[in-house]
Amino acid sequence: MENLAPRPGDLEPIETASRDEIADLQMNRMAWSLRHAYDNSPFYRARFDDAGVHPDDLTTLSDLAKFPFTTKADLRDNYPFGLFAVPRDKIARIHASSGTTGKPTVVGYTRADIDMWADMVARSIRASGGRAGDVIHVAYGYGLFTGGLGAHYGAERLGATVVPASGGMTERQVTLIEDFGARVIMVTPSYMLSILDEYRRQGRDPRQSPLAVGIFGAEPWTNAMRAEIEQAFDIHAVDIYGLSEVLGPGVANECVETKDGLHIWEDHFYPEIIDPDTGEVLPDGELGELVFTTLTKEGLPIIRYRTRDLTRLLPGTARSMRRMEKITGRSDDMIILRGVNVFPTQVEEQLMKVEGLAPHFQIRLTRPGRMDEMEIIVEAMEHAAGDDARAASARTLSHHIKSVIGISARIEVGLPGTAPRSEGKARRVVDDRPRD
Ligand code: DLL
Repeated sequence: MENLAPRPGDLEPIETASRDEIADLQMNRMAWSLRHAYDNSPFYRARFDDAGVHPDDLTTLSDLAKFPFTTKADLRDNYPFGLFAVPRDKIARIHASSGTTGKPTVVGYTRADIDMWADMVARSIRASGGRAGDVIHVAYGYGLFTGGLGAHYGAERLGATVVPASGGMTERQVTLIEDFGARVIMVTPSYMLSILDEYRRQGRDPRQSPLAVGIFGAEPWTNAMRAEIEQAFDIHAVDIYGLSEVLGPGVANECVETKDGLHIWEDHFYPEIIDPDTGEVLPDGELGELVFTTLTKEGLPIIRYRTRDLTRLLPGTARSMRRMEKITGRSDDMIILRGVNVFPTQVEEQLMKVEGLAPHFQIRLTRPGRMDEMEIIVEAMEHAAGDDARAASARTLSHHIKSVIGISARIEVGLPGTAPRSEGKARRVVDDRPRD
């Protein structure tokens, strides 16, 4: 793998600014953002008034804790444009996330917001080891999802040659990567595994691909998966995080030289970690729910948005801005099986340890009697696809899951190619339990 440490002059001054400089900037911008939300969004004005707080109550950054949270339900209840803080004709772009139930959540961006977004994604690609002049293959979905267009504008801003492949048509993905000489790919980690399968199906050596960097996000993935992808393609695999309510991709990104968690671009997004049950702000280092306040966004300012993502805040390393640890999972995806909390990432971690198993998986929850049961659907690799080998892999995985996570799961090891594949965000959990 190439050494991709940044060269002098590569970084923006704010990326190496002192903590005091960052805090001063945040204080000024937060005061603006609260004021902007209060003055221009009837939703926020009512919310702040109900809570008995006013933008003038912010005298230090920690005063933010006095302000009420915003949730996905608030966006849904005010569908489509109820939280916007500029007139509709100042909104240059709309994105939306489908959501499994009910109405989608709709987000809007002014021209200036799109500009800031492009800057943040360009910064993220640079942190990952991408450079002006690279061919960047974008296989995040284009459309209402923020992944494709978000990555696209950032890659353009960086000065790259963008290939807007979008998701799907996996055979063609490989052709485009090879023929156009992509040095960087931006895609969900689960779809990268489908692309890996396709390389092998075509008899191509993935380690000989032109790729040097993969920027993976939009879903949780483990360091074990990072090792698997890095080894398979001989590339650097770097984590990108974001969510549409706050921006889209580019809220936080790992630095390729350290790969030690994601630096939050704190000049535009102020993070807090809260106890998900009490809402109390927790000190840096403690695990809890990530909450974001946008500091510069015009169209849809977001004040204390509860992401439901679980992580902890850590001090800066390769940059002075704070890091968040790789996301363990979303509180919505947490499975409670006979009293034990389980995240799909924990299953992924154990699966990756079993030599004969491919890295694709899905978890199925059922309730055949009175107790919930978990079935893990995986598949054998070509060289371990015989009946005995598959039974042995199932036993090994079952043992790891029992001894590390503490639960008994039924393991279904299928033949190669039988586990569900992803073309975007993987669906890790299928809940077939009866609704009660
Ligand atoms: O997934 C934005 C995005 C696109 C991020 C492309 C990175 C790359 P949403 O569809 O609104 O936006 O989903 C946001 O996805 O709250 C997390 O639960 C999850 N997520 C996003 N990035 C990561 C990541 C996009 N790197 C939700 N690790 C978030 C873990 C992630 N989970």
